[in-house]
Amino acid sequence: MQTPQATTPLLTALQELANKPDAAFYAPGHKRGVGVSPQLREVLGEQVFRADLPELPELDNLFAPCGAIADAQNLAAEAFGAERTWFLVNGSTCGVMAAILATCGEGDKMILPRNVHQSAIAGLILSGAIPIFVTPEYDPNLDLAHSITPNAIANALQVHPDAKAVMLVYPTYYGACGDVEAIAQICHQHGIPLLVDEAHGPHFAFHPDLPPSALASGADLAVQSAHKVLGAMTQASMLHLQGQRIDCDRISQALRLLQSTSPSYLLLASLDATRQQMALHGEALMSKTLQLAKHGYAQIAQIPDLSVLQASHTPGFLALDPTRISVNLGNLGISGYEADEILRQQFGVTAELPSTQHLTFIISLGNTLTDIEKMVNAFRQLTQTRKSLSLPSQEQTVFSRWKEEFLFIHPSSFRLYPSLSPRQAFFAATERVPIERADERICAEMICPYPPGIPALMPGEEINLATLDYLHQVLNLGGSLTGCSDPTLKTIKVVKG
Ligand SMILES: Cc1ncc(COP(=O)(O)O)c(C=O)c1O
Repeated sequence: MQTPQATTPLLTALQELANKPDAAFYAPGHKRGVGVSPQLREVLGEQVFRADLPELPELDNLFAPCGAIADAQNLAAEAFGAERTWFLVNGSTCGVMAAILATCGEGDKMILPRNVHQSAIAGLILSGAIPIFVTPEYDPNLDLAHSITPNAIANALQVHPDAKAVMLVYPTYYGACGDVEAIAQICHQHGIPLLVDEAHGPHFAFHPDLPPSALASGADLAVQSAHKVLGAMTQASMLHLQGQRIDCDRISQALRLLQSTSPSYLLLASLDATRQQMALHGEALMSKTLQLAKHGYAQIAQIPDLSVLQASHTPGFLALDPTRISVNLGNLGISGYEADEILRQQFGVTAELPSTQHLTFIISLGNTLTDIEKMVNAFRQLTQTRKSLSLPSQEQTVFSRWKEEFLFIHPSSFRLYPSLSPRQAFFAATERVPIERADERICAEMICPYPPGIPALMPGEEINLATLDYLHQVLNLGGSLTGCSDPTLKTIKVVKG
C-alpha cells in the first residue's frame, strides 16, 4: 500500500481537473490557455495553462483549507517536523511578516539581528513593533556577518525583559548557522517564542550531515523558502509551527492580510510535489548534493589565491551548511561583484550572491557534476588572469570602514535602535535632501543592496557617512540597490524636521 507521504493530494487534484474538459466561465481569463498569447504559450507550453486554475471546489481554499490543501499541508507538517504548516504563495517574505504580525503589535519589542532580511523590517513597519537590534558576530577579515550568540540574546533580554519575541536568521545567506538550540532555551525560559527565518534551510530536515533544522533545535516557528534550495517554483514557501507559544489563528489572520486572494495553484501544487519528493527521496537527493558540494569545495580550495568559507565553531557560527559555497576573492584584488560579472559573461557560470569579497553559490538537488566542473574551471581561469583585473585597493578600504562603523558603531552589543520605530518613520512627514546634507538625519526609506536584501538603511535609522559611502561603492562596483526613491542616490528621503 502507498504510504501517505507518497501521495500528492493537491497536485493530483490539479492534474485531474486540468485534464477534464470544462466550459470555463471563471477567472483566469485565458480559460485554460485558449486565450493566452501565442508567444507566451510557446515559451511556457500548453499544460501549464490548463493547470492554472482558480479555487474550484475540488481544489480547496488556501484561506479556509478543509480538503486537498489541508491534506497537503498536513503531510508537509509531518515531513518537515512541524505540528502545523501553512503553504505560502508570496515567498518567505510574507511568512516572515506574518510571524511578526502574529507575535508583536504596536509598541511591542522584538529582539532581532541587525542583518535581517528586508521582509522583517517590512513586518516591523506593518506591526508597529520596536526592534531591539543585536549586533551579529562579525568576521572582519572576511567582511561577513554571521549569527547572533546566545549570550547576546540573554543580555538583550536582561535589559528588555518585556520583549515579546526573538527572531533569528538561520542559516545566513552564506550558510552560517548559529546556536538555535541554546537561543530557543533562553527564549523559553523568558516565556517568549523564537521565530526563525529559515528561508535558506528547508533542506536541513532531510539529511544527518546537514545542520539540524530550526524546529528540531526547538524553535517555535520557521519560515522556509522551498523555492530557494528545493524543487518548488519561485515564490513557493512554507511557514511551520510547533508548540503553544504562538496563536495559530493569528498566523492565519496575518497570512490572509498578506497574500493574494487568488493564490496560484501552480505554486501550491509545486509545494505538494516538493514535499513528496523530499519525504520519499530527500536523503538520497541530499547525499548526492552534498557529494557535489564537497567536490566543488575541495577543488576551489586548491586554487591559489582563493579560499572557501569554513565554519569557525564560535557561538555565532557553530556550523556551516555544506551546500553553500562562498569563495573569498580578497587575495585576487577583485570584488565579488566584478568576479560575478566575469564568471557570468565569459564562462556562463552564475552565482547566487556577489558581495564585497565573496561570491556565494547554492548547490542544490538541481545541480550536476558538469555545473561544478564549469564553476571550478571558471575560477581557475579567473585566477590566471587576475593581474589585469585588479581593483585599486582604496575601494576596499571604504568597505572596511563601513563594515566597522556599521556593525561596531555602538558601545554595547545591543541598543534600542533606530531612533524612531520603523512604522513611525514610514508614516512621518518626509523631505528629500541632497546626500551631502543627509549625515545624522533620520532615514525614511529602506535601502538595500540586492541580493542579499539586507537593508543598509531603514526607516527610522540615523544616516551616517560610512553607510552612504558603502552604498555608493555598491553602485560604483555594479551592484544594485532597491528601495531608494532616487536611484542615483544623489538625494535621499529623510524624516522632516
Ligand atoms: C534571509 C532571507 N529571509 C527571507 C527572504 C525572503 O524570501 P522569499 O524570496 O522566499 O520571499 C530572503 C530572500 O532572499 C532571505 O535571504
